[in-house]
Amino acid sequence: MEQKLLNYNIVLIGFMGSGKSTVASCLCRNYGMETVDMDQVIAEREGMSISDIFEKHGEEYFRNLETALLVELQDRKNVVISCGGGTPLRECNVAEMKKNGKVVLLTAKPETILDRVKNNHDRPLLENNKNVDFISELMAKRRDKYKAAADLIISTDDRSEREICEEIMDTLRNM
Ligand code: S3P
Repeated sequence: MEQKLLNYNIVLIGFMGSGKSTVASCLCRNYGMETVDMDQVIAEREGMSISDIFEKHGEEYFRNLETALLVELQDRKNVVISCGGGTPLRECNVAEMKKNGKVVLLTAKPETILDRVKNNHDRPLLENNKNVDFISELMAKRRDKYKAAADLIISTDDRSEREICEEIMDTLRNM
C-alpha cells in the first residue's frame, strides 16, 4: 500500500467492538500514519482502566476527559484517532473532530459486536449486558448521532481489516 502523508486526521467512530482500534492499527501499519487510541491515552494518563475510571469518578468525568483530549488533538495531522464508542454523542466533540478530520463511522451487526466483545471486561457499559438485545437497543439509541457525525460509513461485517482500510483510503482520496 502506498504511503502519503495526509494534512488532516482520520477519526474513527462507531459502537464498541465495531473495529476502531484494529482498523486504526492497520491504517498505521500500511499508510505511515500515527495512531491515537483515545481510551488507551485516557487510561494511561489516569493510571487506571476505563472500568476503574467509571467506577471511581463516574461516566461524566470520563466524558470530560474525552472532550479535553479531542481539543488537544487538534494541533496534529496525519493521525488516526480511534475514539471511544460514546465520543460522538456530545455535539461539541463532533465539532472538534470535524475541525481537521474526516470522520469515518465503522458499523457491524449486533451479533458481530457481541462476538467481538464477549471476552473483554473493560467495557463498563457492556459488563453484565453482553447480549444481542441490549447491544441492538443501545445501537439504535445512538444510530442518528453516529450517522450525523460521519463523513463516510463503512461496514465491517465479514471483511478483513485490509479490505476495510483500502476502502477508507480509496474513498477519502476521492472525496
Ligand atoms: C464506550 C466505549 C468504550 C469506552 C467506554 C465507553 C461507549 O470504547 O470509551 O467504555 O460509551 O460506547 P470502545 O468503543 O473502544 O470500546
